[in-house]
Amino acid sequence: MLFDLLEKNRSYRNFDSAGKISREVLEGLVRAARLCPSASNLQTLKYYLSCEEETNRQILEHLRFAGALKDKKFPYPGKEATAYVVICHDTRISASPERFWKDVGIVAQTMMLAAAELGLGGCMVGSMNQVKIQEVLSMPDNLLPQLILMLGKPAERVKIVTAEDGNVTYFREEDDTHVVPKRPLAELIINKE
Ligand SMILES: Cc1cc2nc3c(=O)[nH]c(=O)nc-3n(C[C@H](O)[C@H](O)[C@H](O)COP(=O)(O)O)c2cc1C
Repeated sequence: MLFDLLEKNRSYRNFDSAGKISREVLEGLVRAARLCPSASNLQTLKYYLSCEEETNRQILEHLRFAGALKDKKFPYPGKEATAYVVICHDTRISASPERFWKDVGIVAQTMMLAAAELGLGGCMVGSMNQVKIQEVLSMPDNLLPQLILMLGKPAERVKIVTAEDGNVTYFREEDDTHVVPKRPLAELIINKE
């Protein structure tokens, strides 16, 4: 059900490299994104699909991960993702990418949930060198990378805990389980009864 999927849909940064993802699967994710709401229904977002080793490697070089875990470098060697979706804004449709940042979030989560339903997982990556990504993927100037979905068959444990005293910094336990504190429900609702 939806809540199970939402719980399973954590950010994963290590993968089983044998868990290949086909182009058809990635196209299925775009089919899901296509059905999403869009500001003024302008549908400015375009998608670069990568499931080849070479383009995967080129994309990964220009991404950064888990800034709070300074002593770790993700993904671990041999645990790289097997696919990426580069969500781009098309300036030929609108000259203002920031007007569509909310659209980016909506399609990103929709695609991550569609991937989770297939037993896949990954991480949204906003920390990237946009110019380099454009360059290595030979993208025309009108396509501006906004957010990248890194995808694969997850190979790490991630768990949610309730944040205490407002501490929401994620961390790793001794056995390398990745722990994600979420603020308690009561902290999220503004108008208490
Ligand atoms: C818009 C957005 C951008 C993100 N960018 C990065 C990133 O550049 N690198 C990274 O390692 N994680 C990134 N994340 C993942 C967050 O760190 C992650 O969502 C957060 O730690 C909570 O973990 P959870 O997704 O398992 O709930 C991003 C998440 C979002 C929503």
